[in-house]
Amino acid sequence: MSNRLNVVPNDLSAFWMPFTANRQFKKAPRMFVGAKDMHYTTADGRQVLDGTAGLWCVNAGHCRPKITEAIQQQAAELDYAPAFQMGHPTAFELANRLVDLAPKGLNHVLFTNSGSESVETALKVALAYHRAKGDGSRFRLIGRERGYHGVNFGGISVGGIVSNRKMFGTLLTGVDHMPHTHNLSKNAFTRGEPEHGADLADELERIVTLHDASTIAAVIVEPVAGSTGVLIPPKGYLQRLREITRKHGILLIFDEVITGFGRLGTPFAADYFGVIPDIITTAKGLTNGVIPMGAVLVTSEIHDAFMQGPEHMIEFMHGYTYSGNPMASAAGLATLETYKEEGLLTRGAEMGKYWEDALHSLKGVQHVIDVRNIGLVGAVELEPIAGQPTKRAFSAFVKAYEAGILIRTTGDIIAMSPPLIVEKSHIDTLIGKLTEILRTLD
Ligand SMILES: Cc1ncc(COP(=O)(O)O)c(C=O)c1O
Repeated sequence: MSNRLNVVPNDLSAFWMPFTANRQFKKAPRMFVGAKDMHYTTADGRQVLDGTAGLWCVNAGHCRPKITEAIQQQAAELDYAPAFQMGHPTAFELANRLVDLAPKGLNHVLFTNSGSESVETALKVALAYHRAKGDGSRFRLIGRERGYHGVNFGGISVGGIVSNRKMFGTLLTGVDHMPHTHNLSKNAFTRGEPEHGADLADELERIVTLHDASTIAAVIVEPVAGSTGVLIPPKGYLQRLREITRKHGILLIFDEVITGFGRLGTPFAADYFGVIPDIITTAKGLTNGVIPMGAVLVTSEIHDAFMQGPEHMIEFMHGYTYSGNPMASAAGLATLETYKEEGLLTRGAEMGKYWEDALHSLKGVQHVIDVRNIGLVGAVELEPIAGQPTKRAFSAFVKAYEAGILIRTTGDIIAMSPPLIVEKSHIDTLIGKLTEILRTLD
């Protein structure tokens, strides 16, 4: 371990980095070589406070012994078992623990290896479910502007981030989008759920009228849109989406890849909002980000619709080589145990007020045009530099890294989502340093 800390790669060209300004990065690399609890260690030996739980995934903090040990033990005991037509106990156990944790009625689990795969899986389940019920005319999928559902073809089709779509030509057909709910003129500087905008859910009625309910399989939304800059649903909005989807026999999918596992101070966002969808997609916090894994939770009604025909036949033609992989399953179990032992899935509710007050102290600092928060998530929206969108926030990100805090930016929005083990002193450091940085920004 110690000698690895000193290794700095001297050729960075081979790795084409994901969602990264490769040329800029490779001129001035930012490298992490270690991590513990709330901090990363950089290649030059500095400590960086993790204000983003890695990429919204390290909910229990870094290098937690229980999780590390579970992976080590599983690797030595059963490294791999075929995922198709064979099983191993850890995956079944994890599925059971997930069902225990999930909102009532979501009783079955399909395992994947990422959020993107969870989304593809959920969309395919939705389409195939209607067919299994003899309702095969329901082929349309409805997403939302500014939605992020990963990077695979289904996900970018239902997703609504234009820059993630426009390079790729024709995507899935039969997709439509609801409007996003972000409205700074009415809701700027809201603490928690905004007052205005529940009526935007009625746009779904318009879409249903346009296409006819008989053609629509599912609606997919992030309960709180994360990657597009923390867009919190207006009061009553998700409840309305649930009513409309139920009325028309359309499945509602909550993409909880970010909001799952305690981010809002409840196990799932569905619990926070009191709205139970038909399908929940997860990943990230499922294994504390340590081993890639995702899970899709579905109702018994959906599951049971597939369980027909001859018993020797495969019911759903879908799955991955690594679905329910032993080490990922072991990491998932140890992660859920850690969350439980330390009360982390509700810690966001305890720390939420302190987090909110700290974040909103940024109101009035130069360039800040909005601050918003829910649970242990927050966003600070900056006025873009005229003609140079994203530049101001990106400079804040680089300066923050240099100052020893990790934040995340999307467009000109700074998003923060610290590990759920965060203490008040960490929040003070994070927001204190960010305030200084914003004060010095052009
Ligand atoms: C809501 C949502 N869905 C899907 C994904 C994709 O997850 P992954 O990057 O693991 O494929 C993300 C990733 O940030 C996400 O936030």
